[in-house]
Amino acid sequence: MQVFTSEHLHPDVEVRFISAGSGYFDMRSRDDRWIRLELSEGDLLVIPGGAYHRFSLDKKAYIKVRRWFSEEESWVAFNRPDGDTHSARQRYIQQHHNDLLEVNED
Ligand SMILES: [Fe+2]
Repeated sequence: MQVFTSEHLHPDVEVRFISAGSGYFDMRSRDDRWIRLELSEGDLLVIPGGAYHRFSLDKKAYIKVRRWFSEEESWVAFNRPDGDTHSARQRYIQQHHNDLLEVNED
């Protein structure tokens, strides 16, 4: 379970489906703060490749999760800070951190 509680990223998209139980899923915001999601049965989550995340159990300590990756190699987790230099992290930052809209105030 330690691999899930450690902050990590994957090279490609990860899809999670909660088939039973509940728990907490955390993702990093643009300004590097944690955003917590409370997940329960029936929830589906899509995590972009290169996005740091982690998972923890709640007080019930029970969850059943199915995870899908596009390729077997994408299953590999890169913990922070080792993932910082991974090409997936660089792509994620380019796609999701640099897309602020410029507002023309004319
Ligand atoms: Fe993961």
